[in-house]
Amino acid sequence: MFEHKFKIDGFTDYVRKAAADGAVLLKNNNNTLPIKKNEEIALFGRCQIDYYRSGTGSGGSVNVPYTVNALEGIKNNKDIRYNRYLADLYKDFVQNNPFDNGGGEWAAEPWFQKEMPLTDELVSKSFITSDKAIIIIGRTAGEEQDNDFIKGSYCLTDIEEDMIDKVSKVYNKVTVVLNVSNIIDMSWQDKVSAILYSWQGGIEGGNALADIISGRVTPSGKLIDTIASNIDDYPSNKNFGDSISNKYQEDIYLGYRYFETFNRDAVLYHFGFGLSYTEFIVKEISSTLLNVEKDPILSTTFSVQNIGSQYSGKEVVQLYYSAPQGKLGKPVKELGAFAKTKELRPGEIQQLTLELPIKQIASYDDTGVTGNPFCYILEEGDYKFYIGNSINNLKKLESLSDYSLNEDIVVEQLNEACCPQISFDRIKPKINPNGSYSVTYEAVPTRKGDLKKRILDWCPKDIIITGDRGIKLTDVKNGTNTLDEFIAQLSKKDLETIVRGEGMSSPKVTSGTAGAFGGVGDSLLKLGIPLGCVADGPSGIRRDSGEIAVQIPIGTLLASSWDVSLVKELYTFVGKELVLNEIDSLLGPGINIHRHPLNGRNFEYFSEDPYLTGEMAKAVTLGLKDGGSTGTVKHFACNDQEHNRAVVDSVVSERALREIHLKPFEMVVKEGDASSIMTAYNPINGIWTASNYDLNTTILRKEWGYKGIVMTDWWAKMNDPVVGGVATPKQTASMVKAQNDIYMLVNNFGAEVNSFKDDISEALNSGRLSIGELQQCGKNICNFLINSKAIDRPIILGSKVVECKSEIDNSENQLDIGQELLIESKTDFKLKLIVDKPGEYDLVTYMKYDANPSAQSACTLFLNSKYITNIQLNGTFGNSVKEKNIKVRLDRGSYTMDLKFTKPGLEIHSISFILN
Ligand code: BGC
Repeated sequence: MFEHKFKIDGFTDYVRKAAADGAVLLKNNNNTLPIKKNEEIALFGRCQIDYYRSGTGSGGSVNVPYTVNALEGIKNNKDIRYNRYLADLYKDFVQNNPFDNGGGEWAAEPWFQKEMPLTDELVSKSFITSDKAIIIIGRTAGEEQDNDFIKGSYCLTDIEEDMIDKVSKVYNKVTVVLNVSNIIDMSWQDKVSAILYSWQGGIEGGNALADIISGRVTPSGKLIDTIASNIDDYPSNKNFGDSISNKYQEDIYLGYRYFETFNRDAVLYHFGFGLSYTEFIVKEISSTLLNVEKDPILSTTFSVQNIGSQYSGKEVVQLYYSAPQGKLGKPVKELGAFAKTKELRPGEIQQLTLELPIKQIASYDDTGVTGNPFCYILEEGDYKFYIGNSINNLKKLESLSDYSLNEDIVVEQLNEACCPQISFDRIKPKINPNGSYSVTYEAVPTRKGDLKKRILDWCPKDIIITGDRGIKLTDVKNGTNTLDEFIAQLSKKDLETIVRGEGMSSPKVTSGTAGAFGGVGDSLLKLGIPLGCVADGPSGIRRDSGEIAVQIPIGTLLASSWDVSLVKELYTFVGKELVLNEIDSLLGPGINIHRHPLNGRNFEYFSEDPYLTGEMAKAVTLGLKDGGSTGTVKHFACNDQEHNRAVVDSVVSERALREIHLKPFEMVVKEGDASSIMTAYNPINGIWTASNYDLNTTILRKEWGYKGIVMTDWWAKMNDPVVGGVATPKQTASMVKAQNDIYMLVNNFGAEVNSFKDDISEALNSGRLSIGELQQCGKNICNFLINSKAIDRPIILGSKVVECKSEIDNSENQLDIGQELLIESKTDFKLKLIVDKPGEYDLVTYMKYDANPSAQSACTLFLNSKYITNIQLNGTFGNSVKEKNIKVRLDRGSYTMDLKFTKPGLEIHSISFILN
């Protein structure tokens, strides 16, 4: 029924390559892996068939052309023999116990699938022919549902544990493959001889897995998070999951920064660690400080040699630094740079150079303890540098003495911004006499500055409204007119309209996508402002209308490759697919920090480390641009838990914000050519991010020099940018004041008529908001569109009309469909329609969805097998709503109307075709 546009040469091969390169081998005793050609494997676990290609929610809902599961991947790989009897048993089991999607509604899918119980007899029987066992364990997670520290989520279920026990009693070479969205509890790890985190590899995941276990590809992934023995070892654990306030007491001591400084013993698998089938030796050749007088850069050149004799492979070399404790306190080690070698044959050597600008290792003083408040400072003392292949296997650079400073150096003076309004305690290291560190706490400073004054002082000046002078947006693109001259033509109403996005599944843009923005009203279109289109992301194009796209591996897997050029190349393919589908921005990358292992959306994000995250983010945005589109970097910022995500306050110090949580955003803005950012659902220190002036203006635009657009997350809330207080989704004036440009979303066709009843008009009339503030948002939006492919698309005034041919012309049957078709359906159905009066019909649906407003549901309407439109609805708490949809031109004759529920939940009462 659809025109499939997913075929881009080389794309799926590249997905396979990326999926294999991000797999992390944590354990491989007695050469359990790879499987040799003469060995047969017994595959256990239903996820060999019910392979998870991604997590759930907006980041996972790609309609795919196919998925290669693990069993198929192994079948496809002629180097591997597998136990067919066992595979058939699993096939039967899966057939009789089908995948449980929780009913298909939003955030309803369980974290795990019921496993097939094993008997000792069955395992022993498999051992008659099989040499080694592979157990595949799967987990999912996603938007609006964190993981939980329970069996079936973070922990194994009893049946899974029993499977490991029974299999490892019989086989001495047992590999556990973790097809997971996130790290999981590993208390069972001693029972097996090999462990591979293969994560979720997109549509080619099964082939990639088979490549690794057969030895066609040597694993080269490294851990992006620290795996600790117990969940309570993670310093964020005591605050994560609160419904109201999530205090970031760990401050900058997150992940390995905490464990290295305070508790190495708690670590089971270290950050940066991953095994290979071969071995490498890293030798420092020379290290030096370049540009010593001005902005020094540490440069280290080293060689990496594959010293194995059998397998080719790649190695990741990591450079860490250790800054003096000083007055501020520092983690013992921090990642400063990294590089991955090419594929090295046995014996082959590659020489690489890593560079680390010294100012990158400065720390932020949010208390003034150094005498330089709100500055990035290099504190006096000795800075040490190390290279190696994990944080646990490092050598100090030898050919360079420590970088020593005998006084503090101010690297950058910034503004007090986004500070907590109420103090709380955060971790600070205390040095013990033996040189180790223990955890102590200090009070986090609170906001002192006059934010109200800052907003007034920096308020954009009004541009005098001229009305339509015939200047089109293309005239600005061509350099005939300035953006100011263009924007001056927009009336107050136009300016109100332009800051509203429409959707989801706007019929005005590519079907089934997340949103439309820009020319969302007729008078905006008349001025030549095109419609921009955005779609989820990040791991492929999500289209709720059912159209397919390539699903690539999850963010966590990609970061585990530690291969920036691989990720960039992969996203270049995605960028090309976006262009083919007329989508101007992918809603991704997601670059929140893995602050806690239970965060449900960790799979979309990259790592616990901000530098690695920032490098990956840059690879994505630059790759998408190379492909011809862009990415919308999200969720700005601190959307680090899904439970109560639109309410829970991220209470965080300015230092932790800047050094950890905002750092990847800073990197992608300054070095990744980011041109679109999405704010988050949550507040930071009492002010919701969508209306957070310091976040969107002081830091993002003034300090970092960002020139792109900022959009809210879908149906986000806002509160007052200065005093905070109660948040609602209607306070769009606060969003504009903060210079977050677009409210995503009002319903389709709702922007011009303010169907959402936001407060912009009232705020303009009362003087709470200025024309200049709205004009600045309008300029940002137009500037984005000028630089996108949208500007080259034809502008259609009035609604887009879908032409549809009848099956039988001049039918004798009479049915005036300019009336309500009463339907009352929650499930797919077909209906025969006869059109007597040819013409243009408005399609209007009357429907409800008994769920909360962040739940999403959709169905697709076809006439005579032609895709007409997607009907999308968010939870209405069961209230019925009438919504205008697309226009259809119908001939006289008969039509078969097909309604397919792609995301169940919504209930249609009626569909009307109203003759214009
Ligand atoms: C998610 C975003 C997503 C948006 C559009 C929201 O629920 O938080 O990440 O891009 O929906 O689907």
